[in-house]
Amino acid sequence: MKEIAIPTIKDIKNLKGKRVVLRLDFNVPTQNGKIVETMRIDRALPTVEYLIKKKARVIILSHIGKDASSSLKPVVQYLNTLPATTYRSKKTGGDGGRRKMKVGFVPDFRTEQARMVVDSLPEGGVVVFENLRLDNRELENDPEFAKYLASFGDVYVNDAFAVSHRAHASVVGITKYLPSYIGLLISDEIKNLSLALNPKHPFLFILGGAKFDTKMPLMKKFMKIADHVFVGGILANDFFHDIGLEVGKSVVDTYDFKLTPLLKNGKIILPSDVVVKNIDSNKIAIKNIDNVSSTEIIVDVGPETIKNLAHILKKTKLVVWNGPLGYYEGGFDKGTITLLNEIAEIKATSIIGGGDTAVVVEKLGLGNKLSFVSTGGGATLDYLSDGKLVGIDAVIKCKKR
Ligand code: 3PG
Repeated sequence: MKEIAIPTIKDIKNLKGKRVVLRLDFNVPTQNGKIVETMRIDRALPTVEYLIKKKARVIILSHIGKDASSSLKPVVQYLNTLPATTYRSKKTGGDGGRRKMKVGFVPDFRTEQARMVVDSLPEGGVVVFENLRLDNRELENDPEFAKYLASFGDVYVNDAFAVSHRAHASVVGITKYLPSYIGLLISDEIKNLSLALNPKHPFLFILGGAKFDTKMPLMKKFMKIADHVFVGGILANDFFHDIGLEVGKSVVDTYDFKLTPLLKNGKIILPSDVVVKNIDSNKIAIKNIDNVSSTEIIVDVGPETIKNLAHILKKTKLVVWNGPLGYYEGGFDKGTITLLNEIAEIKATSIIGGGDTAVVVEKLGLGNKLSFVSTGGGATLDYLSDGKLVGIDAVIKCKKR
């Protein structure tokens, strides 16, 4: 199949002085107004630095949270603590030391102030507009709003992989009004996630977490292209329930996904043992999967399951993982952590499909021991199922270049 070339930021000629509207995904978790995890911001920095070096004038757009209630102010404060990749030139009287990032902030992008800030932005200058979801027209992909956002720039760069599955004004609509490109982060995501779509073998696909309604297409697709599909988390409970095994008070989906027939081709592996919590006594125990009682909740996979997977991993050339194996928010993260550590030790290409699993990887500091950790949640799932995203398609189809 012929690969479609996607125009990237490197294809933009003469960036010097150009106003670049840069869509990033700064939707990071915060607590009491403080950022608790910075992966998405850090991974967007190469594109920002590239534009600064090329002396472009950079207008960053992002959302944070589901609605208008969160602010990007803490993100801007964080950016302003970072060292820049540019230096104070000795030729022009500087001390040769590294500059600090200097990033401005526009609290309301719908005001004249926004226009004034952008008009006076120097070459290499960067400004962040407040949370785009302040304006409902963002989610509605309103053409007037997209046009308004486009009016701040000469070119548009989408480097917000994690929101590129959403047809929003700053992701899709805006590409009608400006020459559009993807940034370095999206290029990297496509390069690495494509390895899962054209896999080396043996290939182990690991699927955890919840919600078969969103993950079923992914499982069906990888049942075709992977050699083994391990299912953990709440998804495994759904299988056990469907087979007729006792799952006690464990969370199961109420919808009947007809899972049992999927076991026929022998590719799906389910946990052989699990960690359970008794709801009466709060006692934690490890049980074989056919031994769970009616008063227990399955909270994690057991050690025998991890041992079996570790054995499979020894022969694996590619492992792709999406979704934790246990109720990790409740502290039942041992299965996920142990397996991640096993994967970090092997030579196989390892791809972590974003979301909660990526958060655990960051917490453990394993990021650089794995081949790739995606910044997306829903976007990664959609890209892995369909091999495309609306936001990236919009750049490919842009007629303004
Ligand atoms: C995400 O966290 O998955 C992205 O930032 C998209 O956010 P959304 O699901 O609120 O559109």
